[in-house]
Amino acid sequence: MNNIIIVTGVTGQDGSHMVDYLLKNTDYNIVGTVRRLSVSNHDNLKHIDSDRFEKVYFDLNDNESIQNVIQKYKPKYFINLAAQSFVAASWDIPVSTWNTNATGVLHILEAIRKYSPETRFYNAGTSEEFGDVQYSPQDESHPLRPRSPYGAAKAGARHLVKVYRDSYGIYAVQGWLFNHEGTRRGEEFVTRKISKGVAKIHQSLNKSQIVQPITLGNLEAKRDWSDAEDFVDGIWRMLNQDKYRQDWKDNGSIRDYVISSGETHTIREFIEESFKCINMDNTCIHWEGKGTDEVLYFMDDISYITAVVKTKLVTINKDFYRPAEVELLLGSHDKISKELGWRPKNSFKDLVKKMVNNDIFLLESSP
Ligand code: NAP
Ligand code: GDD
Repeated sequence: MNNIIIVTGVTGQDGSHMVDYLLKNTDYNIVGTVRRLSVSNHDNLKHIDSDRFEKVYFDLNDNESIQNVIQKYKPKYFINLAAQSFVAASWDIPVSTWNTNATGVLHILEAIRKYSPETRFYNAGTSEEFGDVQYSPQDESHPLRPRSPYGAAKAGARHLVKVYRDSYGIYAVQGWLFNHEGTRRGEEFVTRKISKGVAKIHQSLNKSQIVQPITLGNLEAKRDWSDAEDFVDGIWRMLNQDKYRQDWKDNGSIRDYVISSGETHTIREFIEESFKCINMDNTCIHWEGKGTDEVLYFMDDISYITAVVKTKLVTINKDFYRPAEVELLLGSHDKISKELGWRPKNSFKDLVKKMVNNDIFLLESSP
């Protein structure tokens, strides 16, 4: 078997962090898969300068490409971080979400079974599979109750991973990863939308320009947010349970683990924490109205006196509400902490600060 790890989805947040982690912490050669796109989106990879890293074309919707890379490289590990990862879009493109996130995984499992059965396989599972949650914190025993085509596809993939593990003895594992964010987060996800919006507001206020409010949907949903850079280490541990677990036997004893921070916060709290990063706390921002009429205002000294000039910072648009919502996510990382020694490092406050400061820096350094 080659000294090779295949990582799919390396243009994305987790894939790019995984490449950084593996280059730093292992001696493997890394093959990162990318899609052919008309406009390149390799920004998350531009810092990588290593002769141990190469890129290949691959698409989860093209079984030939899946078979080709597995046959060619017969990798020691195959880490599948590629997916249609945006939950909101999964109602608009349900079939391609299913094909990418469930059928694509089945094709990988089949190719591993046929051409490279010693390959260790990780598939990116999600807290979205828990969906309509029954208890908190959610742990590995929580039932799968997805609320979106995205969550259903990931739950389907989970069953397939287990079937291939149980039927063929393949080292196949799928973690339940709760939301994780950072400076490489896609701009449609709520945390990045907020951090970027706050950075723009900061710039506009500094330049005495008109402020563009951030337009959002449901502010009451709760998420268990962590730093994406913490999570890739948890994935690597799941792929190497024989090195970490006291009770390791063989591939028959492989376990899937939850990775989470163990804290939950509303979208509203994320917004308020983000504004604190630009020195706007609850003494100068305040919420008015209810539901889709709710607005977050900035009240500077003049607006307090005149009660007229109020700057809108956040408004609500029902288009950003989902047909069905996962109202609460709160994960228990007890099992992975105890058995594989993984623990979260960065706090919620540090994560928010890092994201807002990064977006301020990007804005200030752009021409
Ligand atoms: P992301 O930033 O959206 O990255 C997704 C990657 O998948 C991109 O590189 C994308 O390529 C690639 N991709 C999409 N469709 C593909 C296809 N048909 N064939 C090949 N590649 C394809 O997502 P992420 O946040 O890094 O998440 C990584 C994985 O973890 C995903 O499976 C996601 O569902 C899962 N997950 C994420 C979180 C989280 O909070 N971040 C939590 C739980 C699970 P392009 O750049 O070409 O679009
Ligand atoms: N994206 C977005 N945009 N979400 C909004 C907005 C908005 O304008 N306003 C409110 N929200 C709410 C959503 O309704 C949801 O409750 C929450 O913010 C988080 O939305 P996202 O940031 O899009 O993430 P997600 O929780 O749906 O999915 C992420 O985490 C999953 C793990 O739980 C993604 O990374 C998935 O790939 C991942 O599996």
